[in-house]
Amino acid sequence: MTRWILPAATLLLVALSLPFVLHAAGLGWSGMWADLSDTSRIFHADAPLANTAIAAHMILGAALTLAAPVQALPVVRNRLPGVHRRAGYVIALAAVLTGAGGLAYIAARGTVGGWWMSLWFAIYGVAMIVAATQVIYHALDKNMARHRAWAVRLVVLAVASFLYRVHYGLWYAATGGAASNEAFTGAFDRINVVAFFVPYLLLAELYLRRRGPRRNPARRATVRKA
Ligand code: HEM
Repeated sequence: MTRWILPAATLLLVALSLPFVLHAAGLGWSGMWADLSDTSRIFHADAPLANTAIAAHMILGAALTLAAPVQALPVVRNRLPGVHRRAGYVIALAAVLTGAGGLAYIAARGTVGGWWMSLWFAIYGVAMIVAATQVIYHALDKNMARHRAWAVRLVVLAVASFLYRVHYGLWYAATGGAASNEAFTGAFDRINVVAFFVPYLLLAELYLRRRGPRRNPARRATVRKA
């Protein structure tokens, strides 16, 4: 019974993220081909490379938000190993390019919220690139325990951009937008650029530890050696 809870929660998350995914893909696609500098603060008439980087990161990030959790479902991992393997390379590449696109944009233009937001988004982008490369490295190294642990971290990071908007939605519904402003420099804005991924990564670490040696061969090997 309980083994259905995580897959069901994953599918619910995927379904709830659909409007954001469509928004991200649509904005990225439009920004890739049209000049949106009049209508969006993200795009700038004098920065074609930064525009392309951020547009590509939105399109790839949208695909990643959907694909990473689906890839982690037991039915895909266990029943469709060939699909899981091939999709894994594509998803990891999308994650690296999403992170790299965001980092390139930060380097070129910074973020709307200034250095604090730029710093935490940059940490987010680096974390995503590290997680994606570690997932593939440990899969090729046939260390499935480490592969799974990094896959959990990558899924958390993949859905974090959606959670960032969920936090805003809930906060604005509850407070009408207290401690938040258009420059993203309010106390809530400053907390949310950390809170949209760091606490979830910590929860993932707790989950990985609680799974224990029985479900984690790498830890079992370490325990035996000790
Ligand atoms: C995980 C998938 C991701 C999706 C779907 C996504 C989507 C988006 C979207 C739609 C925007 C435009 C703002 C909005 O309409 O709300 C945006 C902005 C931005 N994203 Fe991402 N993103 C993702 C991951 C990342 C990562 C990993 C980074 C890290 C480098 C990043 C950095 C940025 C930056 C710097 C901006 C502009 C911030 C500003 O100045 O307002 N994104 N993203």
